[in-house]
Order: sequence, then C-alpha cells, then structure tokens
Amino acid sequence: MKMIRSIKEMSGFSAEARARGKKIGFVPTMGALHAGHLSLIRKARRDNDLVVVSIFVNPLQFGPAEDFRKYPRNSAVDAWLCRREGVGVVFSPGAKEMYGAGHRTFVEVAGLSDGLCGSFRPGHFRGVATVVLKLFNIVSPDNAYFGAKDAQQAAIIKKMTADLNLPVRIKVLPIVRDADGLALSSRNRYLDRLQREQALCLFRCLREASRMVRAGERDLSRIKEVARRLISVCPQAEIDYIEIVDPLTMLPLKSISKGKCLIALAVRIGKTRLIDNITLDVK
Ligand code: PAJ
Repeated sequence: MKMIRSIKEMSGFSAEARARGKKIGFVPTMGALHAGHLSLIRKARRDNDLVVVSIFVNPLQFGPAEDFRKYPRNSAVDAWLCRREGVGVVFSPGAKEMYGAGHRTFVEVAGLSDGLCGSFRPGHFRGVATVVLKLFNIVSPDNAYFGAKDAQQAAIIKKMTADLNLPVRIKVLPIVRDADGLALSSRNRYLDRLQREQALCLFRCLREASRMVRAGERDLSRIKEVARRLISVCPQAEIDYIEIVDPLTMLPLKSISKGKCLIALAVRIGKTRLIDNITLDVK
C-alpha cells in the first residue's frame, strides 16, 4: 500500500494507473475509520482495480466553534485498517498542501445546502463540496463511494457531480449500525457510557416514525411530535432538527404521499452532535 501526501504525486499515480487501464475507486474520509468507512472501501474494492482512500480532516467544513481541533486522528490504526482491506493508496495531504495561502475558490450547491444540517452549520457544505471537488480532480476516480449516513452530503455531491459534468460515478451505500442500532460515526468516541446509551434515542425515534408511516399515519406533525417526545425523554439530548424531507431536494414535505421520503435528525448528546436518518418507500 502506498502512502501519498503530495497532490502532485497523487495525481501522477492516478494518471499512470488510468493509462494502464485500471479502474479507480475512491473513498474520501476524515479518518478515524470504522466499519461504516470499511463498508465503502470493500464495495470500492469489489467494483474497481485500485482503491484510493483519502484521509483529510478538512478545516473548511468545520465552524469556528466546532470540533476541528479535537476531531479524532489516528493515522497508524487507519493505515493498518486500509492495508488489511487491500487499499492501494492512502492519500493524506496536509492542510497547507490542500489550501495554499491564496485559496479563493469555493463550491456551493445552492438550495440543497440550506436546510437540515446546512442551517445549523453555516458554510459546512460549501467546505465539503469544495474539498470533494478538489479531491476528485486530484484522484480522477471512475467511481466514488459515500455513505447514506450523511444523506444531505451525498445528495449535494451527486448534484455537484451532475451540474458540473464531473466524469465520476457516485455510489451511495447504506448506513452501518452497531448491533443496538446506533449509526457508526467517528464522533461516537466522544460519548461516555451513559451518553452512548442515550444516543440510542436517535435510532429509536427513526424506528418509531417509520413504524407510524408504515401503519398508515400521514399526519407529518403527529409523526414529528412523537419523534420529539422520544428524544426529549433523554435528559442530555437536545434536538437540532427532526425533518421529513424529499430525499432529492432535501426540502420538507408538505404531506406524505407515494414515493420516497427521508426522515432525518440531528441531536446533541452533551457536546456531541449526532445525525441519523432513514429512507422510507411509501407505497
Ligand atoms: P467522514 O465523516 O469520515 O465519512 C466518510 C464517508 O463515510 C462519508 O461518505 C460518510 O457518509 C461515510 N460514513 C460515515 N459513517 C457511516 C456509517 N455509519 N455507515 C455508512 N457510511 C458511513 O463525510 C466525511 O468524512 C467528509 O465530509 C468528507 C466527505 C470526507 C469530505 O471532507
């Protein structure tokens, strides 16, 4: 497995691999890898000849009061996991390498970035779209893999790729959960034992909301009311949002009708902000 830190070396390596007819699968991450990331890597391995994983804690997508500094960094374990999974290249540039002093260009996917997490994390998705476009240009992948865990992020990347005619196929894979339902996240390691238990309210709430929809409930405010109640029984839980949206536009639904709907939520457990979602196919 190759470890690359320079942009020039990464793009050179990709160009050479492509010239040899290799299909490149790309998994962008911020490291602190867990089984959710590994599911993307495994799929990328199955579909491609070469897998590139980027590990870059992107300063541009963190707000001033957010956890950029304390975001978990564990490059030795990450490298070990990548090697075990048969990754060909780990690309981990430094922040100066990615954003030279005069960096002035940003990508904004208007509309899709406004609601849900976008309204609580101003500038976050601009940072995500900018870094992902840069990474696509550096790595030149055929396929890129994202998790449904970050549903709004995946929708934004898909839209950016379509709007800018990027020659990469975006694949979105299901959420990987712990046995008790908690969606895996690098931020779960901030939780102490009690908070870890309380964090289960996210999945419990999504499960109950989807049960209500399956049972025929169509009143959005009633579903949200029950969902809020299930979160509020946890003393350390503070809701940022619970929304039922169209999974393509990320806009709140006015009513539930036939087709796909996404129930998405962000909840703070103590200082840790967790997100989760579920997609329902309403018949
Ligand atoms: P990060 O949080 O490290 O996640 C990297 C990828 O793993 C994302 O596509 C995310 O949706 C996926 N992922 C995380 N938890 C998952 C889970 N439980 N199940 C399935 N997939 C999961 O998302 C980012 O990094 C960054 O914003 C990035 C795209 C790398 C840009 O900086």
